[in-house]
Amino acid sequence: MRLLVTGGAGFIGSNFVHHVVRHTDYDVTVLDKLTYAGNLASLSGLLEQRVTFALGDIADAARVDDLVASADAIVHYAAESHNDNSLHDPYPFLKTNLIGTFTLLEAARKHGTRFHHVSTDEVYGDLHLDDPFRFTENTPYNPSSPYSSTKAGSDLLVRAWARSFGVAATISNCSNNYGAFQHVEKFIPRQITNVLRGVRPKLYGSGHHVRDWIHADDHSSAVLAILQRGRIGETYLIGANGEKDNRSVVELILRLMGRPTDDYDHVPDRAGHDLRYAIDSTKLRDELGWRPLYENFEQGLTATIQWYRENADWWAPTKDATEAFYAQLGQ
Ligand code: NAD
Ligand code: DAU
Repeated sequence: MRLLVTGGAGFIGSNFVHHVVRHTDYDVTVLDKLTYAGNLASLSGLLEQRVTFALGDIADAARVDDLVASADAIVHYAAESHNDNSLHDPYPFLKTNLIGTFTLLEAARKHGTRFHHVSTDEVYGDLHLDDPFRFTENTPYNPSSPYSSTKAGSDLLVRAWARSFGVAATISNCSNNYGAFQHVEKFIPRQITNVLRGVRPKLYGSGHHVRDWIHADDHSSAVLAILQRGRIGETYLIGANGEKDNRSVVELILRLMGRPTDDYDHVPDRAGHDLRYAIDSTKLRDELGWRPLYENFEQGLTATIQWYRENADWWAPTKDATEAFYAQLGQ
């Protein structure tokens, strides 16, 4: 099996490539533009093995066509992925998430290539704190931000190319990931690296917003299961029953790092901030027998904190620019 993994130098894509090398004998080509969010160091040690790196843009049809021609399956992670950036400058989100996905789908159609599209629970909008239900595969789309609306649009493109052109596609929508190799712009690594630098964590608004955390390695095992055993044309939701409010997560990070649990700042809230995400992954569990390995969030977070402690060389070069961006926003 020869996989083409787009966005494989990013957070979740690189975790997936590590997972594939550990658990299969597949050959992998990573197609990545190496935007501010991509880092080849996340693949270090793998490029000498069964992994090849191709620098390029998923919206570049000629580049994509060559690579798709020699792949058995595409696993599509590449995206502009950060909500705060999408509020500041939406255009790259339209270009990569919509035109990039369209470009890949056209190549998959031409070459008859299996296509797995990696998406997000944010396409469903948000839930109230006391809603008794969670997102399922049948929840109507209702995205809130430029980021999530372009991810919703990319999902709809995949559905249309599957139905109208017979592309052998599956889609997964996953909840918030944490783990190694996550850019310091994101909530958990931002707070860990702030504490490591002696800076107080920054909580948007009141901090009562809820995210449903899953370890990136569990996301990878779910995507691999869908790629290998998922039914063509189906969507699967991926989640590990990890709901936590943001304030509790900041307090836990501070406690695990030996700081007083009130040693953080409230900063202005995100515009249009989704209140709560929660995934019901029954379909994935019942149909494909998938189970997460990291069911204890505190253990997973402890390992993640340790990873950032030991890998300052990986994150330090991006920290100042990230904090300068947040400083401009007063966050
Ligand atoms: P990330 O921002 O860490 O990585 C994105 C990668 O895509 C980077 O390596 C970047 O260089 C590359 N890229 C961006 N634009 C490109 C282009 N035009 N051509 C080629 N490569 C390009 O993102 P992530 O957090 O790893 O998310 C990966 C995917 O998973 C995204 O599709 C995202 O919507 C989805 N997802 C993320 C989460 C999460 O919690 N982070 C949860 C569910 C789904
Ligand atoms: O749900 C899946 C989504 O999870 C993915 O589709 C996105 O790509 C990924 O970025 C993530 O989106 P969020 O917006 O939920 O993640 P983020 O890490 O930006 O923020 C998590 C929560 O923490 C959110 O409620 C905003 C809050 N926050 C964030 C930052 C950066 C803070 O309170 N302080 C911060 O400094």
